[in-house]
Amino acid sequence: MDFIKLELDGPIAVLTIDRPKALNALNRQVLTEFSDAIGQVAANKTTRALIVTGGGEKAFVAGADIAEMAGLSQAESTAFAELGHRVLDSLEGLPIPVIAAVNGFALGGGTELALACDFIYASEKAKFGQPEVVLGVIPGFGGTQRLTRIVGRARAKEIIFTGEMIDAAKAKEIGLALEVLPAAELMAHCKKVAGNIVKRGPLAVAQAKRVIDAGADLPLQDANKIEREGFAKLFGTGDQKEGMAAFVAKRPPEFKGN
Ligand code: CAA
Repeated sequence: MDFIKLELDGPIAVLTIDRPKALNALNRQVLTEFSDAIGQVAANKTTRALIVTGGGEKAFVAGADIAEMAGLSQAESTAFAELGHRVLDSLEGLPIPVIAAVNGFALGGGTELALACDFIYASEKAKFGQPEVVLGVIPGFGGTQRLTRIVGRARAKEIIFTGEMIDAAKAKEIGLALEVLPAAELMAHCKKVAGNIVKRGPLAVAQAKRVIDAGADLPLQDANKIEREGFAKLFGTGDQKEGMAAFVAKRPPEFKGN
């Protein structure tokens, strides 16, 4: 892979979009490589959490590649948006927690990529935004929908209609980023949170993610039914027996993910 670095050792994988000369902009090659990397993460049974970040000093991802998009026909732009949606859906659908470490510009497709992660931590120099209207288009990798679901319809409209960037503090204020860290501490913070998660029952964490996501857009009673089913599925697993036996024996659990 030319533009993706994937560290797969140990329980916490780190995926870096590494095309700093173009501020990690997403062209078709980057998206295809990103998709392959997600496949590798999914296939690696020792990986329990994933951190996604951007290479270089300036950017997480400065958007879809404008130079590549400039000449697209309507049919080609449909295919490009479908590729972006497919890749971000597969990132979102990973059965392990995915943390976005937003280390700089996260614009257009960059904010959309971060939104497809389970949650976002931002460095103090992060800048978010959906500047597509500046280019005469709209977000095409899920921004109109995922941003609206996270920050609410009016705030998403403000961000998308103005095309203006928001800084990390504002991103935290509106619930887009969970925390803002000094740049030098961002990755350590993400690894610490991921480290806490990977100590927990892996089947339970995966089930929690599935249930939260599956229920998010459903009426409460239907969503609660999904929760009950997910809860019951965990009973009888090795992880449930180990977690509860460890509590009773006053010792730390040793989960095996079975
Ligand atoms: N696509 C292609 N190349 C990009 C890019 C992008 N989205 N963003 C930056 N680059 C390239 C620049 O063209 C430049 O390349 P050269 O050195 O070859 O000229 C290099 O990265 C460095 O960028 P700048 O010189 O512009 O750096 P800067 O510090 O002056 O500005 C910036 C940084 C404000 C992020 C500016 O680069 C910028 O505005 N980038 C575009 C952001 C944007 O509009 N993103 C949305 C894209 S549309 C989209 O994503 C659609 C969708 O939903 C799928």
